[in-house]
Amino acid sequence: MMRKSKSTAKKLARPRVLRTLSAMRTWSAQVRGKRETVALVPTMGALHAGHLALVRLAKRRADRVVVSIFVNPAQFAPNEDFSSYPRTWDADIAALSELSVDAIWAPGVATMYPDGFATKIAPGGPALAGLEDKFRPHFFGGVCTVVAKLLLQVAPDFATFGEKDYQQLKVVTAMARDLDIPTKIVGLPTVREKDGLAMSSRNAYLSADERAAAPTLHRVLKECAARLKAGQPLATTLGEGEAEIESARFAVDYFEARHAETLTKVASLADGPVRLLVAAKIGRTRLIDNIGV
Ligand code: PAF
Repeated sequence: MMRKSKSTAKKLARPRVLRTLSAMRTWSAQVRGKRETVALVPTMGALHAGHLALVRLAKRRADRVVVSIFVNPAQFAPNEDFSSYPRTWDADIAALSELSVDAIWAPGVATMYPDGFATKIAPGGPALAGLEDKFRPHFFGGVCTVVAKLLLQVAPDFATFGEKDYQQLKVVTAMARDLDIPTKIVGLPTVREKDGLAMSSRNAYLSADERAAAPTLHRVLKECAARLKAGQPLATTLGEGEAEIESARFAVDYFEARHAETLTKVASLADGPVRLLVAAKIGRTRLIDNIGV
């Protein structure tokens, strides 16, 4: 007689892992043929609670959820961290199984950029705002090219992006609109550690000392937003905020107030809605964060 398993643990269905374009397209066509809605959560893996919040939002709003995992070489400059970028495949699959994701789109570099690949999207507007683009000039071209490909490959009804990468969210939204890609781009508020540090795969690079200093970014953003709302002038507030970040051993790339939609420069809150955006390096790790005022 067969013995009943004592284990009451729920058996998790492993998501389908799709690695070829034809497998991805067939899956998407089948699901859409059943009139089911599809959400895509684009990621580079090394999943953290911020990614998982995007997946949960996608699950609530769509019948089927695809998470793409692809560390996109086109968005890293030669001196950046493409080869050392954290890759945590087994943990990622376990987390996505836990959330009952339907499929994982995991193309290899040769599938995304086969020999002879020669086309790149050159985004304008928010991609040339003088924020991330000033320090990573190759970045948004690489992001737009890969995101456009992902949207065309998966053909989702909507795709989710975290507000932590605020300029990226605005750039991808503009790109989908400008190229008539029929996918709605949905942004989700930044998920934070208890001490306020924005979740990021790159937090894994921080030493214990750097990790202790890292919440300064969010704290200063919050303080500056409060001071601006209380009527303090913009230039003084930003100057003092930047000095405080630097005193926590950060080298600041930018600390700026911008229009929350267009990312153009603002002179005061009256030019808003206003978003404060910061990028700063501590040790070898570059962190970004932002907050609405
Ligand atoms: O934000 C990211 O993880 C990446 O830039 C994205 C959107 C997955 C494109 O590679």
